[in-house]
Amino acid sequence: MSRPVRIAPSILSADFARLGEEVRDITQAGADFIHVDVMDGHFVPNLTVGPAVVKALRPHSRLPFDVHLMIAPVDSFIPAFAAAGADIITVHAEAGPHLHRSLQLIKSLGKKAGVSLNPGTPAEVVDSVIGDVDLILVMSVNPGFAGQRFIASTLAKISAIRARIDASGRAIDLEVDGGITPETAARVVAAGADVLVAGTASFVGGRAAYPANIRALRPAAS
Ligand code: DX5
Ligand code: ZN
Repeated sequence: MSRPVRIAPSILSADFARLGEEVRDITQAGADFIHVDVMDGHFVPNLTVGPAVVKALRPHSRLPFDVHLMIAPVDSFIPAFAAAGADIITVHAEAGPHLHRSLQLIKSLGKKAGVSLNPGTPAEVVDSVIGDVDLILVMSVNPGFAGQRFIASTLAKISAIRARIDASGRAIDLEVDGGITPETAARVVAAGADVLVAGTASFVGGRAAYPANIRALRPAAS
């Protein structure tokens, strides 16, 4: 079994003073998606960027913008991220009582819809929305910060969700986010992941290192 593995560098670890250039450099280095971490200081204990930054970065890359919303409530911001140029919009299952409504809203705007699960949230939460999503994002750290240590107990959840996706017969990406290094990348791919978010591991060492950083995250066979 070999499915193509895509690498989604998180711009959270880029140089914020030169974000446009960083997005261009990481695109040229072989990234597959641009991952944008949106945090509100409420759902997660950190603040990052809003739709204006997504809009400003949009002309700097043709890659899909994979926008990870760690905000609650989320629905009122979804149209602004869609208009700013997001291609995939992911909301957290824990962010509110109306996950299904959020996913329908994303799809009604013509965007791909993703659901994300925190490390403490069980796999079965995806069962009731598996027919409504294009992507499932398994957090392998507690969201809020780049540079945290990979939580190995999430590997079983990745396998459990891989089995659910395969059983559904739907084309759903299985993305993993947090603590991804060349070593943990191989483990999450073996467990069934096919999109790897990487902040620190993508941007470490400056632009000359980006192509090798991304290559090092791809499994040998892909
Ligand atoms: C964590 C964010 C991640 C983070 C990953 O809350 O969702 O995307 O930037 O950073 P690394 O790869 O350094 O763990
Ligand atoms: Zn993320």
